[in-house]
Amino acid sequence: MNKFYVATAIPYVNDKPHIGHAMGYMLADVLARYHQQMGDKVFFEVGTDEHGTKIAAKAEEVGLEPQAYTDKIVPSWHGFLKAVNVSYTNFVRTTDPAHAKGAQYIWKQLEKFIYKGTYEGWYCAGEEAFVTPGEATANDGICPVHKKPYQQLSEENYFFKLSAFGDEIREAIVAGEFKIVPKFRETEILNLIESGLQDISISRPVKHLAWGLPVPDDEHHVMYVWFEALMNYLTVLGYPDGEDYKTFWPADVQVVGKDIVRFHGAIWPAMLIGLDLPLPKTLLVHGFVLTGGAKMSKSIGNVVDPMTIVKDYGVDALRYFFLRHIPTIDDGDFTWEKFETAYNNELANELGNLVQRVSSMAIRYQDGVIGELPRPKHDTTAFKDEIMAMRLDRALDQVWAMIRGLNVYLEEVKPWEAAKTGDTEHLQEILLYSASSLRQVADLLWPFLPNTSEAIKKIFNDNGTITPFKGVLFPKIFLHTPDPRNQKPAVTV
Ligand code: MSP
Repeated sequence: MNKFYVATAIPYVNDKPHIGHAMGYMLADVLARYHQQMGDKVFFEVGTDEHGTKIAAKAEEVGLEPQAYTDKIVPSWHGFLKAVNVSYTNFVRTTDPAHAKGAQYIWKQLEKFIYKGTYEGWYCAGEEAFVTPGEATANDGICPVHKKPYQQLSEENYFFKLSAFGDEIREAIVAGEFKIVPKFRETEILNLIESGLQDISISRPVKHLAWGLPVPDDEHHVMYVWFEALMNYLTVLGYPDGEDYKTFWPADVQVVGKDIVRFHGAIWPAMLIGLDLPLPKTLLVHGFVLTGGAKMSKSIGNVVDPMTIVKDYGVDALRYFFLRHIPTIDDGDFTWEKFETAYNNELANELGNLVQRVSSMAIRYQDGVIGELPRPKHDTTAFKDEIMAMRLDRALDQVWAMIRGLNVYLEEVKPWEAAKTGDTEHLQEILLYSASSLRQVADLLWPFLPNTSEAIKKIFNDNGTITPFKGVLFPKIFLHTPDPRNQKPAVTV
């Protein structure tokens, strides 16, 4: 049995989850479910990043101790994952004692690459990132993502010898041992290495920031939140002794957003090389979900609450739009109009209606019995190739090509005419082909739209009978686009 370890970036818990966070989770979920379907043993990590300035500031704002604040907010992340139907196997909190223990162990192992120095320069609290002078100048001293001025820091810190690892990371990339998808992100990392990796600060003095994991044997410092958070991908496995660690490391795929590529494409591999561990096989970098072409922001007022989508349209509608209409490797745009149009045209018409037509014809013409004729198998090579290339949007395109093909087929062979003329053999052949094709569609859809897939399989039973579906698979909804049924024909005089 093959193993498959997929890991996601662990979000900061200074706010509740938004639609952008759903992106990485859903991509990882498709991969996890696909491998589960293939019979692989799957480990699927998610979690929360709970230390650092941002969280401490938020806790203070709401008048709680940081630990009390994170304890209070973490359940909303569990709820979010459940609402999006993410099949994770392990949830790691960076405040878990096991993570703390693992992180200190890792720090000790890396000590030969750690030294004390003074950090003088810029810091972005929004990103919890040290900023190079070049970056600060290029951005006029203001973080382009968080729109807040960088802070000037001068403090004694521990440093990690990142500069020592550039060659080895590059070699691993070039040899294909550490693949970064898409290629242009790989180029981004190769260029970064080419320009020379600088050593990085990996601690904060307790007097400036107390909310962090203690540096081993030094009560005056806590670990820099990024350095410690990256370790979660190992601590969640019980590194160094855990059975899961022995079974699952290296990660097969790590899914991260484009804003945190350098942490996962340079710092994390350097830490792993320092620990003498193999690198993740693939780093999948997705883009950003924009709303109406702009980054979601409370001040613009374009923040979309994923829970509203789930409530009004169902979780599979959310999954469908994000997995197909936001390109896997690039930015994509959410608008209510685009979403609802895709929902009504593709889910309601092309898929829901198709399922409805085939099942009701089988019930009407054949008493719900499809029969036991050999089942057609559509070629799924292109679909599998897209999954392997991590183009999950294109894999869904392939499934939709099958769905559209089936609709065209029905319009061409017209089973209702065969029913009229009493050509029962032809009718049975058409319905069997359609039903068995829909079963295959359901199989392919399972990683993407698990509920829909299961509903289709319940309608078209294994034993060749139909169980009528109560209700409609995707009822038409017009909350954000005009309802064509209410539009009166234009009056001409
Ligand atoms: N805590 C760090 C990750 C540490 S991993 C060891 C972090 N947290 S975050 O909350 O800012 O982001 C979590 C994930 O969500 C990242 O992969 C980030 O790229 C992703 N996204 C945040 N906003 C997003 C969009 N609007 N669209 C798509 N993904 C986005 O970074």
